[in-house]
Order: sequence, then C-alpha cells, then structure tokens
Amino acid sequence: MPWTLARRAERLQPSVIRELLKLTERPGVISLAGGLPASDAFPVDAVREATARVLATSPREALQYAASEGFGPLREWVADHLRAKGLRVDAAQVLITTGSQQGLDLVGKVLLDAGSTVAVEAPTYLGALQAFAPYEPRWHVLDDDGAGPCPQAIARAGGARFAYLQPNFQNPSGRCLDAARRHALADAAHDARVPIVEDDPYGELWFDAPPPPPLAARAGDGALYLGSLSKVLAPGLRLGYLVAPKRLFPKLLQAKQATDLHTPALNQRIAHALLAEGGLAAHLATLRRLYRGRRDAMHAALGRHLPPGCRWTPPRGGMFFWVELPAGIDAAALLPAALDAGVAFVPGAAFYADAPRAHALRLSFVTVDATTIERGVAAVATVLQRALRSR
Ligand SMILES: Cc1ncc(COP(=O)(O)O)c(C=O)c1O
Repeated sequence: MPWTLARRAERLQPSVIRELLKLTERPGVISLAGGLPASDAFPVDAVREATARVLATSPREALQYAASEGFGPLREWVADHLRAKGLRVDAAQVLITTGSQQGLDLVGKVLLDAGSTVAVEAPTYLGALQAFAPYEPRWHVLDDDGAGPCPQAIARAGGARFAYLQPNFQNPSGRCLDAARRHALADAAHDARVPIVEDDPYGELWFDAPPPPPLAARAGDGALYLGSLSKVLAPGLRLGYLVAPKRLFPKLLQAKQATDLHTPALNQRIAHALLAEGGLAAHLATLRRLYRGRRDAMHAALGRHLPPGCRWTPPRGGMFFWVELPAGIDAAALLPAALDAGVAFVPGAAFYADAPRAHALRLSFVTVDATTIERGVAAVATVLQRALRSR
C-alpha cells in the first residue's frame, strides 16, 4: 500500500527525553534526566479520599461524556487561583486540557500556518518545540542578555504569530525573570503587536519568595496563559488548563473537541474534590520544603564534585539545574559513558530551536533523594573529568 506520510508527520521527532527515560529504566541508573516530580510526595491519601468521594456522590456523571470546556467547578477554581496571581480572568475563558502539553498543541493548531514565525527563547522547553514543529513554523530565536530574553528582540519579532515564553523557573534553565524584565517584555510585545504564549507549570514551586506576577497580568488580552496540575499534584492525572483571550477561546475549544472531545471527567472531578477542600496550600508547603532541600543538596554536590570551568546558578524554584561545561565538552557525547557509570542527564542541545549549544546539560534535582543526588552528581563528575583528561 502506498502509505504516504503527511509533511507534518515527517516533522515529528522522538523526544530525546522520552527516549532517555527508557534507558534510565535500566536497573541501577540514577535518573537526573526526566522532569519527574518526586513520587514520594504525591498526595496519595488525598487522591484516594477524593476518588472515593467522587464515586460516592457523582459516579455516573464522572463516568459519562462531559463538556469539552471542562468541569465547571474546576474552571471556577482555576479562575480564582489565577485571579490571586493578578490575572484578570473569567471562568468562561478557562479551557481544561489534557495536560498543558495538549494546550501547546492546541495553540499550534489554532495559531500556526506553515511558514508562520514563532519567537522562542534559547534554550526553551523541548516539548513546546515538539508540539509546534508539525505546524511547520519558522523559529525566531530571541536574543538573551543574561537577565532573560531582550525586549528589543521581541520588538524585532514583529509579525510573529506569538512569542512562547516561560518566565518562572524555566525548563530547562531554571531561570526566573524579575518584575522589571517582565514589564519590559510585555510592553515590547504590546508595542510590536506580538502575542505572548506564557507557559507556567513551575510558578508555584518557589523556594524563597513567590515570583513576580505573570506576563499575562500586564499583557491582558495580548497573552494566552497555560498552567498545569502536573507539578503541584501529579502528572498522572493529565490535567492542565489554558486561559485564552475571549476571541480565541471558541477556536481552541473546537480544536480540543476534534482532538479528544474532553479531558477525563473522572480526573477533573477528583482534582476538584481535592482542591476545593483547600488542601493545596499545605501540599505546596511540603513540596517547597522537600524541593528546596534537594536543590541545596544538588548545589552542594555540584560544588564538591564538578571540575573548574563548570558554571551553574542555583535555581530559586522549579525542578532543574542548568550546568554549563568547560569549552569543547559536548554533553551528548558524555551521555553513553554516564549511563554506563549509572547516571542520566539531558544534554542541553535538545532545548534549542536552532544552533544548539552542545556544552550544557540539564539535571533534575527533585526526582531522587539527597543521598542519591550526591551519588549521581559524583558519577557525572567522574565521567566529565575523564573527558577533560582525554581532550
Ligand atoms: C515548560 C513545560 N510546559 C509544559 C509541560 C507539560 O506538562 P503537562 O502536560 O504534564 O501539564 C512541561 C512538562 O514538563 C513543561 O516543562
């Protein structure tokens, strides 16, 4: 049969991280690679109780087809939660998605034609590049001055369908933009008429102080905001949400209908039963304490083990360290030896839309405990030292 792939299918690429996750399932490999939340912190009892409550009070509704927009009370909860962060949002603008990854795909589907320009940070979230790529965009990589993407770069991105930005504890760099940069970016985007797609799965995972308000708080209708329950509750629920300007909402909704009709009603009701009880604040406090300790453990381990010439900034939230290696070292080339030595990381090149820089790697500090982090970082250092000697 002459099966012919669509051009967009030709552009689908395996995720380096998903491929890596398979390797890290090898017994004995410490994974600092995947962006996996700490499973020891999942609110298992609360999910169990919430599930029992849903099945006792609304079993038939929970198991039936449901509205594509999402479960009304959950949309209300999301709107309240975001208003507390400074967003002007009405529950009617909230679309519940099957993870925020689905939100990214819907954004691509609704906003991109072949050849449309998308402005992106360098580095940026690999999964967003993967989600947008099938819609055949051109990338406009935003210059960065160390404090974040430059507002002038946004001004030069005029004509882009949108700029995809992660101001909070970015995946992969861990960086959090300060308030002044957020204002400058939102204002530059407004002046250049570049819409912002703001992806914020990590904003609640701050360790010292909450981050400044989202870009969307200043950009209003000029921004589409994506959030997720994956990092604050559990990724297995596959629950995310997007807040769309009113004009875009119907198209995103239609795209979602075509994709999966709706996000599982059972999961939405379980999450709502849990969130409505007000347990999130206490759970977040636990997560922040746990993750802060692991961040400190990784920072200390990197300082103890890595050779001179390596650079990193301890993140103030989120899940990742971004480590720059001495010049001439290719992180991807180190990976096979690292796996043999029992540790996995993600080579930095995966996070660039173009002109990948080979000399960095991403380490997750939340997935494993402090003792394991220490062993993992020591193994990375051994492999790196060997590579430096054989240069
Ligand atoms: C920046 C960013 N956006 C979106 C996602 C997708 O998250 P989910 O689909 O689990 O909500 C991730 C997952 O790691 C992420 O890091």
